[in-house]
Amino acid sequence: MGPMAAKTELPLSARRAELADAPLLHAVYTRSPGYFELLGSELPTLVDVESELAAALADPERRLELLFLRDEVVGLLDYKLHHPEDDAATLSLVLITEDHRGLGLGQRAVRNLEAALSPEFRLLYAVVYGQNPSAERFFTRLGYAFQRSGGPAVKWFSKPLRAGP
Ligand code: ACO
Repeated sequence: MGPMAAKTELPLSARRAELADAPLLHAVYTRSPGYFELLGSELPTLVDVESELAAALADPERRLELLFLRDEVVGLLDYKLHHPEDDAATLSLVLITEDHRGLGLGQRAVRNLEAALSPEFRLLYAVVYGQNPSAERFFTRLGYAFQRSGGPAVKWFSKPLRAGP
């Protein structure tokens, strides 16, 4: 195994969040203060996170997943199936805690999601909120193309998940 392998072999896993995971999800947010500064919003409280989780779990198409490096929570994926079209899914947030950035975890989490959605889903959208040039670069590097603005602070990117006919 060469030196490059170590980075890609980090044992990253994802599982759906349950109500009881509110403290873990809250910990992910607490370790990612810069993202909330960028959005101009307060860090959510544990109570906020509990209601967010309840709302997510009540939506049968919504998927809120926690990302783990071995047994440590290092981020989340938030996406919606069959949205906005039946054969598409929409990623509204990939978040890696600030202490685990730059290790390729975000890239791997998105690639794993693409693989899991394909071929049932034809397209994955990524919706970037706020002024977030680093997220735009991140998705562009992963092969996403700018589609349209959904208002001054929302940009839709998308990537086909398999070659079209
Ligand atoms: N911090 C951040 N980036 C770094 C660092 C560091 N300390 N060191 C290096 N980088 C570079 C990496 O080299 C890489 O660039 P490269 O591929 O050109 O070398 C890039 O930044 C990051 O790639 P990854 O390591 O795969 O990404 P990471 O695991 O750091 O996660 C993410 C990227 C998810 C965008 C992360 O920065 C994050 O959580 N940001 C805040 C939340 C956010 O803005 N998410 C996207 C919102 S839009 C949406 O989700 C649809």
